[in-house]
Amino acid sequence: MQKSLIDPFGRKIEYIRVSVTDKCNYRCGYCMPEQGVHPEGRHTEYLSYDELARIIQAFVNLGVAKVRLTGGEPLVRKNLAVLVQQIKAFEGLEDISLSTNAHYLEREAVALKQAGISRVNISIDSLRPKRFKNITRGGDLEKVLAGVDKALAVGLQPVKFNMVVMKGTNDDEIEAMVDYGLAKGVEVRFIETMPIGPAGVSLMDQHYPATKILQRVKQHVGRDLIPSTGKTHDGPSKNFRIAGTNTRIGVISAVSQHFCESCNRVRLTAKGVLALCLGQEDSVDLRTPLRDGIDDDALEALIKQAILKKPERHFFNENVHNIEFRQMVELGG
Ligand code: GTP
Ligand code: 5AD
Ligand code: SF4
Repeated sequence: MQKSLIDPFGRKIEYIRVSVTDKCNYRCGYCMPEQGVHPEGRHTEYLSYDELARIIQAFVNLGVAKVRLTGGEPLVRKNLAVLVQQIKAFEGLEDISLSTNAHYLEREAVALKQAGISRVNISIDSLRPKRFKNITRGGDLEKVLAGVDKALAVGLQPVKFNMVVMKGTNDDEIEAMVDYGLAKGVEVRFIETMPIGPAGVSLMDQHYPATKILQRVKQHVGRDLIPSTGKTHDGPSKNFRIAGTNTRIGVISAVSQHFCESCNRVRLTAKGVLALCLGQEDSVDLRTPLRDGIDDDALEALIKQAILKKPERHFFNENVHNIEFRQMVELGG
């Protein structure tokens, strides 16, 4: 019988987001503190590629068909293509994708594509070099845009842009981002800032609601936005095709309208902790049993048990509290 992972709320878990590092060469304020992650882990605290691959294999055996590699910034970790190549061979794994800030993408895109990454989501919160530098605390927009072009040139399909919309910081660039997406034929997803990490509650001041974003996009393009459920739409993004074009835009209304009832994912941190929800603390350590020599059957059984702890939903939008226990940079978004 085909194995599968079903949580206590009947949701089928078929997607794992794997953070390969909690380090990043950028320092976006909504994601990590200026000084980086503290305390920085010792090398041995992080799972090796072999260990990551072993856990991913167990998930694939249990019916997971999609893996997204995240970080921190995943391309900060050396030779990521080696891990991709390793997991590409797993029978039943249909989709290996990457979420990146694209700073190193120009250099890495060919190797990643060859190794088996099919598609990439790229964070771009501003198209103005100075502002981009401020938001990311040192980022280089030129390198990111070169990374975008390279991803498109090598045929990573689809490329999607992620823009975290922050009131008073970059909300005046919604229209410019739509134009950039249209010019490149790339889907743009506008994301509500989630109140996670040490900056937690204060991030709510930057809240810019998805409904308003959609109104502005519609007004800007002067065309209808046609609800679209493409092949890659099983994530939290609500997508629309811009009438008369093949380009889609999407909104990720994580705060104003949660999508937890259709959640199909769990997260693995770079230190081997299985995080069952982005906005809740529930998690299970997989590194210790792995290093103690757990066999494949017992590992699968442990994962099945862990899934039973998956919470029903997050509570970003009610009695907002500071979700300090973990930083976004550890969870990989
Ligand atoms: P696709 O498979 O291409 O749809 O990717 P994705 O949107 O699932 O992944 P991506 O890494 O591009 O994440 C985009 C945004 O969605 C980020 O801000 C993530 O933090 C957020 N996100 C992803 N999964 C979840 C989730 O389960 N819950 C919440 N609240 N936000 C999520
Ligand atoms: N709220 C919303 N999105 C976030 N991301 C990181 N931190 C947050 C947050 N607090 C996004 C990044 C990237 C994706 C993986 O997660 O911008 O696009
Ligand atoms: Fe780095 Fe992405 Fe976090 Fe920005 S949002 S600090 S680019 S991991």
